[in-house]
Amino acid sequence: MTKRGKYYITTAIAYASGKPHIGNTYEIILADAIARYKRQMGYDVHFQTGTDEHGQKIEERAKKAGMTPKEFVDKTSAEVRRIWDKMNTSYDFFIRTTDDFHEKQVQKIFRKLYDQGDIYKGSYEGMYCTECESFYTESQLVDGKCPLDGCEVHPAKEEAYFFKMSKYAPKLIDYINTHPDFIQPESRKNEMMNNFLLPGLQDLCVSRTSFSWGIPVDFDPKHVVYVWLDALANYATGVGYDADGHSSEEYYKWWPADLHLVGKDIIRFHTIYWPIFLMALGEPLPKQVFGHPWLLQAGGKMSKSKGNVIYADDLADVFNVDAVRYFCIHEMPFENDGVISYDLMVERWNSELANTLGNLVNRTIAMSNKYFGGKVADKGVADENGIDDNFKSVIAGTVSKVEAKVDKLRMADAVTEVFNLFKRCNKYIDETEPWKLAKDPASADRLATVLYNLCDGIQTGATLLVSFMPETAEKILKQINAPQIDYDELGHAGNYPAENQVTDKPEILFQRLKLDEVMEKVDAQRKAQGLKSLKELEEEAEAEKKAAEKAKQEKTSEKEASEYTHKPECTYDDFAKCEFRVGTIVKCEEVKKSRKLLCSQVDLGDKTVQILSGLRPQYTPEMMTGKKVMVITNLAPRKMAGLESQGMILCAEMPDGTLSIMTPDKAETPGGSEIG
Ligand code: MSP
Repeated sequence: MTKRGKYYITTAIAYASGKPHIGNTYEIILADAIARYKRQMGYDVHFQTGTDEHGQKIEERAKKAGMTPKEFVDKTSAEVRRIWDKMNTSYDFFIRTTDDFHEKQVQKIFRKLYDQGDIYKGSYEGMYCTECESFYTESQLVDGKCPLDGCEVHPAKEEAYFFKMSKYAPKLIDYINTHPDFIQPESRKNEMMNNFLLPGLQDLCVSRTSFSWGIPVDFDPKHVVYVWLDALANYATGVGYDADGHSSEEYYKWWPADLHLVGKDIIRFHTIYWPIFLMALGEPLPKQVFGHPWLLQAGGKMSKSKGNVIYADDLADVFNVDAVRYFCIHEMPFENDGVISYDLMVERWNSELANTLGNLVNRTIAMSNKYFGGKVADKGVADENGIDDNFKSVIAGTVSKVEAKVDKLRMADAVTEVFNLFKRCNKYIDETEPWKLAKDPASADRLATVLYNLCDGIQTGATLLVSFMPETAEKILKQINAPQIDYDELGHAGNYPAENQVTDKPEILFQRLKLDEVMEKVDAQRKAQGLKSLKELEEEAEAEKKAAEKAKQEKTSEKEASEYTHKPECTYDDFAKCEFRVGTIVKCEEVKKSRKLLCSQVDLGDKTVQILSGLRPQYTPEMMTGKKVMVITNLAPRKMAGLESQGMILCAEMPDGTLSIMTPDKAETPGGSEIG
């Protein structure tokens, strides 16, 4: 196998606040598939995961459970690890933020940043969300609630340490612009640039005094280090980083990380705060951060109080570990959220796992036994119509297709490529009809060749399946009694050993399932855990949906009656008279004489115009500057508050009457581009 250098991959560290659900577990399964594949390719892989154990939320949960925070996190962290292990994930190191070495390093990092003037002492006043442990300004709240998780917020004031984020923002913007693969997928990069970096970064509050379950600031111990600074540091401390310049050899081997795999909700922490902390520490930035979408369940948001949370270990008891791994990876698109349901899982099990894969292996082994005592060799009798050539080229070409998908982190597509090979094997059986060949003794060599090619396809497929479904792949290889193929040899057909003896007792890999029996099993499981039946849950969700639809309808009809007035039809010529262009706001100021108006200088590519818009207080000049907007540019100029406005920035009116600026979908759309 070719040696290909190092690959350091991490997952987010899960909150040690309770048992992780299938969504959190998705991430470790995804990371595991990538790590295993890279190892198979010949990379020297280090795969780190762990638990995030400090903070107010955990302190509160521990109190509720009648435990000390440490007792509580010992229990919950072990539970996370149990699930990760049950899912057969091959992490190399499991870090806990309560690990001694980590706590010491976080203190050193804090002190270093303070000593060099990046952290300073001040006080913080704002709306605080206990759930995500963050302060928000009034304008950041959504309907008066936390913009991240919709939880209640409360006013809070604290003496606190701050990190000078804005100092590093230009350097980070430059880094992102010159490293196009740093943030993946691309849409997340645009989100970070437009929503956070270009409008201007605020200094970040990096200590708390309102609770004590955290790492104390060693020179001011009534402060504990902000959980995100503590948590993010795990990626470096876990491989031996030392803030005093005595990092271990391991650290120099692994850092910078090749891939941080995190959920879309925490990409901001990983692509803005973490890189800036690293810049301040003088350390290289991770090569890539991938913000994966979320795995959701059909029928609404998973919530403990609703009792509809799906756990990976329960699913594995109903199906099996590899099937859960397959569902998670396969059902998750690259950018949009994926949805799982019991119906879908049963369907996938029956059609893909039992039929496409299980049945293929079973009948190939059965035919080898029946016609050749389980030993086949390529007798060189190919068909005349190119069926064999085509089949062999698919066997040989699959590895490069899978690798290309893995390289782009498109793991759902990667596993689909592996299954495409199994599908092609089934098609080959239909094309060659071995049972017909078996009827004519003169076709014995042709039949042996066909079965050899099939075993060859299965061996290649099973080798490529190892990263996604390790146990199943091993079982298949055991049944055909062949080893995993060396990665470098996967690019050609004919790896299957001639006259190899397959098992004479093939085991059914995936027995077909009936949906109602699966539902019964799930209900029995739920009953044992004191939870409502699936039917009751469904009825509740249905009632909730109906109530929400009714409320929406009422709101719409109220709105229709009062607000929706439609303008008379206009001709295309009327429309064509208007010129719409993309503009970049290069400067923006509040208009002194007005409470609502902002005055923006908008670069339209060939000229800069001045536009007044009533966007205060939802938008501040800082938020406007750098924004790409859609502008009607040939509107007759008019005066407002004594200033001339030479166009209009297009906005949508929200149900509460506030305005939402329309921006181009692709952030790289050049200023001046015509809209139409
Ligand atoms: N502790 C922080 C991460 C700190 S990393 C320095 C955290 N923990 S978490 O337990 O809430 O989430 C762990 C990971 O699971 C995050 O990447 C999060 O985005 C991800 N997911 C949470 N719900 C998920 C789904 N429903 N689907 C997929 N991933 C999900 O955030």
